[in-house]
Amino acid sequence: MREKTPLLELRGISMRFGFVDALKSVDLVIEPGEVVSLVGDNGAGKSTLVKILGGLQQPTSGVMTFRGSTVKLSSVRDADEMGIASVFQGQEFCENLSVAANIFLGKEIRQAPGIRDDTTMIARAREVLGAFATTIGTGQPIAALSIGQRQTVALARTLLHDPALVLLDEPTASLSVIQTAEVLTYIKKLRSQGRSVIMVCHDLPDVFAVSDRIVVLRHGRINGVHRTAQTSYEQIIAEIAGVAEGGDMQDDLARRMRRDVSARRSALISRRRADGERIGIADGESEPVTA
Ligand SMILES: Nc1ncnc2c1ncn2[C@@H]1O[C@H](COP(=O)(O)OP(=O)(O)OP(=O)(O)O)[C@@H](O)[C@H]1O
Ligand SMILES: [Mg+2]
Repeated sequence: MREKTPLLELRGISMRFGFVDALKSVDLVIEPGEVVSLVGDNGAGKSTLVKILGGLQQPTSGVMTFRGSTVKLSSVRDADEMGIASVFQGQEFCENLSVAANIFLGKEIRQAPGIRDDTTMIARAREVLGAFATTIGTGQPIAALSIGQRQTVALARTLLHDPALVLLDEPTASLSVIQTAEVLTYIKKLRSQGRSVIMVCHDLPDVFAVSDRIVVLRHGRINGVHRTAQTSYEQIIAEIAGVAEGGDMQDDLARRMRRDVSARRSALISRRRADGERIGIADGESEPVTA
């Protein structure tokens, strides 16, 4: 018998688009309160998996168990009500609506059928935005916000229904150093509240900074699952690229990646000095653990 029920269990999840097998029999277990990064090359199937978990797409086959019960998510609202909140890749907003209206888009609170409860929605929108260091006003039009501010609104939206699992597809893409640090801090906060997070991310320093485990997808299959503390950049890169570990090609890839990472870290540190403020990524915390 199992000691505890996993939060989420996937068995044989497959997704076919015409002739493309985007996911091929994916098995995955997510425990309560853990942060799992999903990495892989472009087209590996990461977003497809997130869309299935978030109720945006339905798998061709496979079984999904959430808190011990088999579930079929037929919409994002279904997932949301069950405690799975998501920020999808390239999520769009309604440009002509306010921040509060966008936070409650499709989830409006009503006093009575046909009558929106704007006062409650604005108060709740202020509350969820309050989880972030931001000056965004609930009445501001979305059109007036920067990319980073929009991402904050998208993240705040995940907190509306007290989720047990938060799915984030490339949450730090195109964000500044400070904004990225804020997102990572938010992820750690979710974990400290006992929630689980699945984050799709291409940025290995960010992945190593926040994840408890790293899952590598390649060509729609799981190519590796590791405890972050027990793996290395080299191993993850090898599995993303599908090359044998220790081979020349893998060493070469890893060397190039390390150069990129160290250049990025130098840029990060000088930006941080220039900004003159501390950011959420503690030194050492973002260092990969090398085998
Ligand atoms: N709606 C769709 N119709 C047809 N093919 C699709 C659809 N969505 C995804 N695919 C295909 O499924 C595969 C996986 O795509 P997916 O978007 O999940 O990859 P990804 O790992 O998120 O890539 P990226 O890093 O570029 O975001 C790709 O070959 C893609 O072209
Ligand atoms: Mg994607």
